Amino acid sequence: MNYNRTLITAALPYANGPVHIGHLAGVYVPADIYARYLRLKGQNVLYVCGSDEHGVPVTIRARKEGITTQQVVDRYHELIKRSFADFGISFDIYSRTTSDIHHKFASDYFRKLYDEGKFVEQVTEQFYDPETGHFLTDRNIRGECPHCHSLGAYGDQCEKCGSTLSPEELINPYNAETGNPLVKKPTSHWYLPLDQYQQWLEQWILEQHKEWRPNVYGQCKSWLDGGLRPRAVTRDLEWGIPVPVEGAEGKVLYVWFDAPIGYISNTKELCDAQPEKYGKWETWWKDPSTRLIHFIGKDNIVFHCIVFPAMLKADGSYILPDNVPSNEFLNLEGDKISTSRNWAVWLNEYLDDFPGKQDVLRYVLTANAPETKDNDFTWSDFQARNNNELVAIYGNFINRALVLTGKYFGGKVPAQGALNDYDRQTIEEFCNVKSELERLLNDFRFRDAQKEAMNLARIGNKYLADTEPWKLAKTDLDRTATILNLSLQIAANLAIAFEPFLPFSSAKLREMLALDTFNWEELGRTDLLPEGHQLGQVSLLFEKIEDAPIQAQLDRLARIKAENEAVAQAEALKNWQPVPVKDATTIDEFDKTDIRVATVLECTNVKKSDRLLQFRLDDGFGERTILSGIAQSYPDPSVLVGKQVLYIANFPPRKMMGIESQGMILSAVNADGKLVVTTVTAPVRNGAQVG
Ligand code: MF3
Ligand code: ZN
Repeated sequence: MNYNRTLITAALPYANGPVHIGHLAGVYVPADIYARYLRLKGQNVLYVCGSDEHGVPVTIRARKEGITTQQVVDRYHELIKRSFADFGISFDIYSRTTSDIHHKFASDYFRKLYDEGKFVEQVTEQFYDPETGHFLTDRNIRGECPHCHSLGAYGDQCEKCGSTLSPEELINPYNAETGNPLVKKPTSHWYLPLDQYQQWLEQWILEQHKEWRPNVYGQCKSWLDGGLRPRAVTRDLEWGIPVPVEGAEGKVLYVWFDAPIGYISNTKELCDAQPEKYGKWETWWKDPSTRLIHFIGKDNIVFHCIVFPAMLKADGSYILPDNVPSNEFLNLEGDKISTSRNWAVWLNEYLDDFPGKQDVLRYVLTANAPETKDNDFTWSDFQARNNNELVAIYGNFINRALVLTGKYFGGKVPAQGALNDYDRQTIEEFCNVKSELERLLNDFRFRDAQKEAMNLARIGNKYLADTEPWKLAKTDLDRTATILNLSLQIAANLAIAFEPFLPFSSAKLREMLALDTFNWEELGRTDLLPEGHQLGQVSLLFEKIEDAPIQAQLDRLARIKAENEAVAQAEALKNWQPVPVKDATTIDEFDKTDIRVATVLECTNVKKSDRLLQFRLDDGFGERTILSGIAQSYPDPSVLVGKQVLYIANFPPRKMMGIESQGMILSAVNADGKLVVTTVTAPVRNGAQVG
């Protein structure tokens, strides 16, 4: 199939907080690389995005910050939009789903399907707060967890034991905000009968799109294998697009119904504003010669591969996505990125700390992109990739080529002259970079593609290191000219090859090379800069990053981790209850256990164990050694020295870590999970029995 244009969409981020590195790595950088690549090839491309401003997350944020929902979306829409622009994400439009155009478009979309009978209406019982007169969504319902019985579990999950829940399972459900008890009340909603699209989707995805990434195809297959069921496309909420049906007061379109329509309405907004430049929006969405590509994160797969296509199919006049490249998740220093726990590198803060270093982050996120599995962002990897790759290879090569040309040829491109075998071998190595890059980019393999571009810099770096023009210049200026000419041609190639990945550095490099026009098709050529061409000012393409700013980032994360742990602990203490008393026993049973008093002579950590403490005791008979698994609770075990403790004296000896333990020290489990050794306050003779 030959396409005339490509429409690229990137998932609309919720306007409930700033954007972080996970967003960038998962969706916006890969989509941007792809858009820039196709534009550089001269193709007709539209790259569309915007803020997702409906749904529950924004209303929760508003409550947390004590401002209105409109203020939340206004604030974060602007912040997110600026962050993307700062990082060179080259959207043709970044709009928002609270725009009038979108409201009308989504409303009309619903109404058309409604009028054509494409929805089924169904009454179900939902949780309702009689006090406030509101129906509640999962996240706004709390109650006792049916599994671990902790209080305050959410309607979708218990954060204590991690079980997935539905609000029905909660014991004594209440309104998370008001604490009011809830009742069930019938309410009517419209459903998109996905079951009716099952066969068509199976055919379209499982048969016709076997080329989709395995993670995407696999998720679709398991949804389809599980059998699709009708999905509600309306909700009882105040924030959102009103359902355009009489008698549906108090109901809005479900956020996942209206948000993907945002791709279309944003396209319309752009095309209506500049029809000469972008043409009609319908061309982008209804002409079969348009290729539609959705870039998303893995939590969005079902919506983009199943629900939205079913919505498009229900309308009947739209094209369908050709591919849905979806990434896995990026973690930060080993932990899941989380907006609510502030465990993230926020783009706006990054730029405050590393001004001008957008490309470094773009580079690292692509080099480490979670394309096939979850990946980890670490600050040490960030520093290493900057210093060892961008600076030491790419930057170093460019700097040497330009500085030497300045020194020996007054900054003018010297004559290429006659090539020798080594030159030809070098050219051979890099002339297929173009086809290699294309193969990988067409396949959405951005991580490997960037590696290939870096390989070109490696070739250049090696060429200079091997030919050593700085030594030759004294004896053979012609040969020096050839070497620098070829090096400059490689530099020009690099400016093109890296444009999709590192747009800021490419622009800077083009300025240094005084390369005004360039396009993708020129990649691999050795005549991009003519003899005598005057180069521009030379400056460093990349700078080394020292340890101090990296350590500052690690310190910040350590602070946040400590804060989060303190909050979690306070929460645990608040919810703590003593465990129930054990079944009845008898004095005779109890009497079998010989509990005694001893003085701690020495208490130390057991080598190679982060769990065990070794006690040396005066037990009244002599000395006794006991091991106890409480090291985590005693960062400084010496505090126990001199204390009189209780221990069980008649347990059989046990060897641990090569040491014989002669009994068991008694300790209490505190509410925070820490163990506290029980001690005697008034002095008692060592060896005294407890009973
Ligand atoms: N806001 C959603 C998220 O962040 C993505 C919406 S994508 C769209 O997960 F297709 F609905 F726009
Ligand atoms: Zn639980």
